[in-house]
Amino acid sequence: MTMEWGRIEIGSMLHWETEFPAPVWSWPEPAAFFSLCRHALEALCGARRTRATLWLPSFFCFEVARHCQAVADIREYHDDCRWSEPDWSTLRPRPEDLVLAVNYFGVRSPEPWNRWRQNNSCILVEDHTQDPFSEWARNSTSNYAVCSIRKTVPVPDGAILWSPTGNALPEAPQAMDWNGSSLKAGAMLYKRSYLSETSDPDLKARYRDLQLRGEEMLSRSACSAISPVAEAIVSFGVPKFWRERRAANTRLLITLLNDFSDAQPAFRTWPERHAPFVLPLVFPSTAARDHYQDAMRKENIYCPVEWVCDTTDPGAKDLSSRILSISTDHRYSETDMRRIAEVMQRVGCESHVEIN
Ligand SMILES: Cc1ncc(COP(=O)(O)O)c(C=O)c1O
Repeated sequence: MTMEWGRIEIGSMLHWETEFPAPVWSWPEPAAFFSLCRHALEALCGARRTRATLWLPSFFCFEVARHCQAVADIREYHDDCRWSEPDWSTLRPRPEDLVLAVNYFGVRSPEPWNRWRQNNSCILVEDHTQDPFSEWARNSTSNYAVCSIRKTVPVPDGAILWSPTGNALPEAPQAMDWNGSSLKAGAMLYKRSYLSETSDPDLKARYRDLQLRGEEMLSRSACSAISPVAEAIVSFGVPKFWRERRAANTRLLITLLNDFSDAQPAFRTWPERHAPFVLPLVFPSTAARDHYQDAMRKENIYCPVEWVCDTTDPGAKDLSSRILSISTDHRYSETDMRRIAEVMQRVGCESHVEIN
């Protein structure tokens, strides 16, 4: 079935790519480049004269929150990717506190945050990881902005920190803890061979092993500058076509899943000149979500959970237990979206009794 379809697998880590077709988006300047986005946040917090307080949304990647605990007191405010803005009653920063605002899946509009800022002082740090070239990111007026480049660009590590308002950037870190990045680079190269040549299971085992060990090493790495390999790739810029493809794929998949009743897209629209990161689907229960994730995996469609949250906010915890991301990025075509929709409909028909 896989060969008929012409694609070995969908989803998971980006593989190594050498084509960066023009025209491209260039990264903001001036900027500081780090190995990971959490390193950029660490450096920003560490640059404060006294221990920083960092406000993070309750719906967010728990590993980043855990990492930042070493350098800042973490406070949580309630947010949800299905809302147009956070629950402001839970966000009460002091003027010297850092507040991370996340453009969830690249589909949020900046107006609510911009309005809130008119009456609230803080050091605002926007997280544009999921669409670094959205209209919001390109016209940002926040004190700082960050982006984990490796989520949308095929680099083994890499994050950028810039200041739309021209604030001083922290010094680039001296550490060169690139062991995890080097394992990831190997994984990306093996994945490329696996996908393009043979679908040899040994290659798959190799890339998965390097990927998992690389990710684990990265998560324990010291605050480092971006690796030279990633820096060289980042210097190519990001093909505009990649974001256009992502937006077109997401739009198509939403349409194809119009009559699919086992899960609902977390959003159906987005602001002009934004490109969604993935299509997140929200299921009625964890059991239903896990069932679909397993069934899709059996069809070689790998769907991550964004994010596993460690939070006291029951709403974010509940969402995290029922959400699943479908990859719609530049690697994939209209045919792939049709294939995903077809598999989802089939899983739905086959398992109706089981998960209801
Ligand atoms: C929106 C967002 N911001 C930041 C991060 C952290 O990025 P890094 O793994 O480069 O520290 C992630 C990682 O999942 C993310 O999804």
